[in-house]
Amino acid sequence: MKLRPAPSPDGDKSSLTGDMSLNRRQFLRYGFNAASGVLAATLGALGFAAILLPPSGGEGGDKSVLYWAKGREDEAWYGTKHLQPMMKSDFEAEAAKSNVGMSGAQGVWNGLPVIVNYVPHSQNSSKPIADNSPRFQEMAGYDIGKNYVGHATEYLLGNPDIFDPSGNLVMSFARCTHLCCIPGWQLVSNSFTDDNWTPGGGDDGGSKMFCICHSSRFDPTAIEVNRNANRSTGASFEYLGIRRAGGPAPVGLPIIPIIMNGDTIEASSDYTGWLTYCD
Ligand code: FES
Repeated sequence: MKLRPAPSPDGDKSSLTGDMSLNRRQFLRYGFNAASGVLAATLGALGFAAILLPPSGGEGGDKSVLYWAKGREDEAWYGTKHLQPMMKSDFEAEAAKSNVGMSGAQGVWNGLPVIVNYVPHSQNSSKPIADNSPRFQEMAGYDIGKNYVGHATEYLLGNPDIFDPSGNLVMSFARCTHLCCIPGWQLVSNSFTDDNWTPGGGDDGGSKMFCICHSSRFDPTAIEVNRNANRSTGASFEYLGIRRAGGPAPVGLPIIPIIMNGDTIEASSDYTGWLTYCD
């Protein structure tokens, strides 16, 4: 596993040719998984319902989504924005630097880890499907037993408020469905996090969300219906999520509906039952 190299102060990447393999100390620093270990432990101790209590005492919880760059202040594009509100224009500006027009960032919402991805769907949806023209893809979903669960298009017809396919942003809960580490948006540099894109939600590399713990991959452009279960009670639930592309994670990550407030990214707490599998 290769860590994504941090830029040197003078922008000279020739100084980054040393060993960038991951060791434990780097894991602790670079892994949002581990950097937010306190957060994860807190989640485990309090349970999700407690976390979702409105911090301000207002009804419906805190809608705002904040950047989370702890431990990555020097290399994440949003490193200077730690705990500032996420803005769509920030994602658009960052996406303009990408080969494929995508960008993503770690965030925190209501005390929960999330990942927001910008996909140039509106720009590409009328073009023929082709490599390196990312778009959201509504797909069939299968559970851990390979049983068909449903199709995203059908699900969205019945639940049109979950995800607006004409928009360019998608937000996912960032607890891995394998063992509940916190996946990141391209925390490492390897074939799964290259700046390229192929259609189909497969595992052929490029622009994936990556769980550093055991290398699970998730494709933020592949939208599917899936099924997961609460680890304590076994109660199962179906949800709209992004697809697991590879690795030991059994299923994909739930979507958290985005609510735009001008340029500011906020989120809805209407589907919190989907987020309980690590409780
Ligand atoms: S916890 Fe994410 S791959 Fe194991």
